[in-house]
Amino acid sequence: MKILLLGNGAREHVIAETLKKSKGTRLYSYLKAKNPGIISLSEDVEIGPYTDLDKLKAFARKVKPDFGFIGPDDPLSYGVVDALNEAGIEAVGPNKGLARLETSKSFTRKLLRKYNIEGNPKFEIFDKNNIDDASGFIDGLEQCVVKPDGLTGGKGVKVQGDHFTAKKEALEYCNEVLQAHPFVIVEEKLEGEEFSLQCLTDGKTVIATPPVQDHKRAFIDDKGSNTGGMGSYSCEDHLLPFMAKKDAEDGLEITKKVADAIHKETGEYYRGIMYGGFIVTKHGLKLLEYNARFGDPEAMNVLPLLENDFAEVCDSIIKQQLHKVKIKFQKMATVCKYVVPEGYPDNPVKNEKIEIGKISQDARLYYGSVDKRNDGLYLTASRAIGCVGIADSLDKAERIAEEATKSIKGKVFHREDIGTKRLIERKIMHMKQILE
Ligand code: GLY
Repeated sequence: MKILLLGNGAREHVIAETLKKSKGTRLYSYLKAKNPGIISLSEDVEIGPYTDLDKLKAFARKVKPDFGFIGPDDPLSYGVVDALNEAGIEAVGPNKGLARLETSKSFTRKLLRKYNIEGNPKFEIFDKNNIDDASGFIDGLEQCVVKPDGLTGGKGVKVQGDHFTAKKEALEYCNEVLQAHPFVIVEEKLEGEEFSLQCLTDGKTVIATPPVQDHKRAFIDDKGSNTGGMGSYSCEDHLLPFMAKKDAEDGLEITKKVADAIHKETGEYYRGIMYGGFIVTKHGLKLLEYNARFGDPEAMNVLPLLENDFAEVCDSIIKQQLHKVKIKFQKMATVCKYVVPEGYPDNPVKNEKIEIGKISQDARLYYGSVDKRNDGLYLTASRAIGCVGIADSLDKAERIAEEATKSIKGKVFHREDIGTKRLIERKIMHMKQILE
């Protein structure tokens, strides 16, 4: 099978590796930066911006792939799947309309409300015409969260108690959001522990991958600014230490209902990844948001465990034959720690050279925001390298990932605490207090 992969982060590196493991796969990649990991796995690459749909279509027409695979969210929002479809090529990933699952939080909240799907918190959607009503709505909530209705690279959501304290500040932020976005969503603040449930779907069948917990904050003990995700872990029993089996089942059930509702609402089948960000609360499982693609770093936790031929799984998504595939994941624990530039995310160093030393056979490295130049590898201001450990216990996986981070020399740092017993115990305690 010939596959056209779009995207150039560590998530796409692991997607590329998993596709290449499939029998007889030939990989072609459209990148906006030179990711050495993806380039080494590809027969041919085209470098261009994700917004250049003509360039993408020309490359696709030259390659004539069996299908495309879209890694990141921003190209989905530009309509790359629609562009590939115009060139006669199907893709794993939703078209622009269906990608509203991620690109429009108001679309998704309203969809759950309309089809009576459980998981929504209390919420209201405001625009410039009814923003005066926001004050009364916020008064009725103990604490609130303000979300712009659009892509913000994971940095637009503001939470009372974390990013602001007073109701007045919430209202100010609502008005600020409306300068750049058509809608702002105000929701009740939920207390609990979060997990990512990345599901594969052909629009009719939905299959969950093992749940993963990501760490958004930049520094040890979940301190500091929000990032795209500093690292993540998953466990060998395909649950997480703070959650019950029912939480994972409920997340899958909600996702199945949402896939069905999307079809009823739009008349189209969603084919790709539905990644639910869920939170376990005192009042059951709640949906924080959906993403229309694999998580970064969470893809690095689940894809290496897939026992199936991934290209065949993708083909069955395209052909809506997913019900015929028995998908299996190895019962192993995984830890991913992202090595990032000093100063990330607020003021990252860039154009600094990094060196990669010897890493143990058990560890895996996935390239993210790096640039391969003639004289070596350089940082490009965002998450640079995902270091992944896979083992039969979380402890061992953590040690492998931690060792791997030490092989990367330069102006970088990482979160040493991800996957450690101390942090996991804190999360279990937090959940216990919530449920009391
Ligand atoms: N890890 C968060 C995300 O991929 O959106």
